Amino acid sequence: MIQTDASLVQELDDLRPRVPVGLLSSQEKDRLIERSFLGLYRWYSAKSQQTRNWNPDLDINWRDIRTDHKPEINTILEGFFAVEQYVPDYVENIVHMLRRSHGRSHFQIRWGSEEAKHADLWHNSILFSKFRTPEWLTNYMGELRQNAWKLPWEGDPIRMILYTVFQERATQLNYLNLGVIAKGKSEHELYKDSADPVLVEAARVIAIDEAAHYNFFLEGARLWLYYYPTRTLEAMHDVLKYFAMPAGDIIPGYDKFAEVVYKAGIYGPRQVSKDVIQVALDNLGVASKKALEQGIKKTRLVPDEDGNLRETAIFPGLDFVHIEDCVKRIFGKVTQFEEKTGHNEVDPLIWKPAY
Ligand SMILES: [Fe+2]
Ligand SMILES: [Fe+2]
Repeated sequence: MIQTDASLVQELDDLRPRVPVGLLSSQEKDRLIERSFLGLYRWYSAKSQQTRNWNPDLDINWRDIRTDHKPEINTILEGFFAVEQYVPDYVENIVHMLRRSHGRSHFQIRWGSEEAKHADLWHNSILFSKFRTPEWLTNYMGELRQNAWKLPWEGDPIRMILYTVFQERATQLNYLNLGVIAKGKSEHELYKDSADPVLVEAARVIAIDEAAHYNFFLEGARLWLYYYPTRTLEAMHDVLKYFAMPAGDIIPGYDKFAEVVYKAGIYGPRQVSKDVIQVALDNLGVASKKALEQGIKKTRLVPDEDGNLRETAIFPGLDFVHIEDCVKRIFGKVTQFEEKTGHNEVDPLIWKPAY
């Protein structure tokens, strides 16, 4: 009979990593992602209620908005109004796709309530600047809602979250740049006399919301990127290939709006590549769009001891250390919040490295 030295067995057992390096099971990764989303959602909701609880009717001094804006500014307001008009579809389609996820589906409902405020804010801006009659506006709203927005990536939560990262950043940029015009600080001669403090305030509060949305989706994308880098990078590549603002294809007269925002320096190909895509890629630890394309070809899957293919963190264009730091910070942020609420005592979120 073979005698086993108990201390040797113990020593070997102690040496065995509790979390196999690079080999967390999909189930475990999914659990960590899901739990992190729930924590992020809790953190976000509290922050949103405490710091961004503005009202689109009460908190903007609409009676003082200018009623003599240039037709171009009116076109911009109408375009912003149109894009935010599809909030029922945005919410319905995304919530339906994510209904099994506590954190993500509940977040989307809250997000939707904020987007509805945006639709109402632009509605008020048009109504009070009086360049359209209330009847015209009602008809236009009806016309817009004859079409329904559909998910650009049906049934694909990873591609959808990445799409939303870029889209929220793009929306934020649109509002920030309108804010520059409304401050009277546009470089374009046409907008030299367009200062309007009411519009400055409207653009400011809404841009802050979009920044908060961008940050939430960015955190979520980082979780995917960390736990499923290959899948996420491939998804990012696809999303960037077809990226366009939501509902642009179903809004009547969208081309005219697109031309005005382009000429005004608010939003066009230059802003998309420099201020949207590159900014988001930097935040995600991806060097550039080109690095993303080249790197995807080099990512690889390796078999684990049972022959299942697992992802490796080998990807030349991705700053994996940065992503790991970001994800650790997410765990830290959630834990700190849940220490306040007591959730850490009943259901703690515990950091587990994936590699
Ligand atoms: Fe919005
Ligand atoms: Fe948003």
